[in-house]
Amino acid sequence: MAKIVTFISGKGGSGKSTVLVGIANELALAGKRVLIVDTDVGLNCLDVITGVGEGVVFNWGDIFNDTCEIADAIYPSLNIENLFILPAPKDYKKSFHPHILKDLLRLISSNFDFILIDAPAGLGKNLTLALEPANEAVLVVNDDNLSLNAGKKAAEICQSMGISITLIINAFRTFAVQTGLLPSVDDAMEVTEVGLLGIVPFEANLNFNASQGLPYLRDTRATEAFARIAKRLQGEKVDLPEQWR
Ligand SMILES: Nc1ncnc2c1ncn2[C@@H]1O[C@H](COP(=O)(O)OP(=O)(O)O)[C@@H](O)[C@H]1O
Ligand SMILES: [Mg+2]
Repeated sequence: MAKIVTFISGKGGSGKSTVLVGIANELALAGKRVLIVDTDVGLNCLDVITGVGEGVVFNWGDIFNDTCEIADAIYPSLNIENLFILPAPKDYKKSFHPHILKDLLRLISSNFDFILIDAPAGLGKNLTLALEPANEAVLVVNDDNLSLNAGKKAAEICQSMGISITLIINAFRTFAVQTGLLPSVDDAMEVTEVGLLGIVPFEANLNFNASQGLPYLRDTRATEAFARIAKRLQGEKVDLPEQWR
């Protein structure tokens, strides 16, 4: 059975999708079979980030409407072996029963080692839909107070559903924190009341490659952080680099 992890953020733009795809890439490169599930209905960012965008015809909405088989809506990544994407429906006006993804993922869970679900921003119905199947959740915030406060609200919803949650601080800029311009790691944990899973540094190249659907760049500081987090999700103990301790 796959370990199902839902990535939540509260506020959009914290880098949730980028971080999820980076961690999924690292898990797949380590030989795990990984399915990414997009629940950001209407936006379909993951099709682009993972590079499968052009080839996508079906999504999980079609599975429930019986317009395709389950396997028809699961697309292999063009760039990385063992990595698959289940895209989100494009019709954001339609509402979905909160249990449908849970029921679907239960059926296919044994085909994967990890299923990573990209929850939508905000606290609406589709957040619940994305959290229902989760064994655990990860809150992705960036280092500003708006993101931390919104993240805390999303974390509370998660906790009210009895799902354990850990924190990733993304786009972290050491200098801005040292000068007191941005909240520290301790501040982030204090505001959100969530324990730390990892820190991903700010990385300009990441932005360009992800938004163009280009192949995954390894050996950057951000992708090294994704690799460390991927190991922690597999139960390994990996220390934070010296500068963040
Ligand atoms: N660690 C990072 N360093 C620099 N830019 C980042 C980082 N993480 C994400 N970004 C950029 O931030 C923007 C928002 O990221 P995205 O993953 O779409 O956020 P979300 O899914 O939370 O809305 C994108 O342009 C992305 O490339
Ligand atoms: Mg996103």
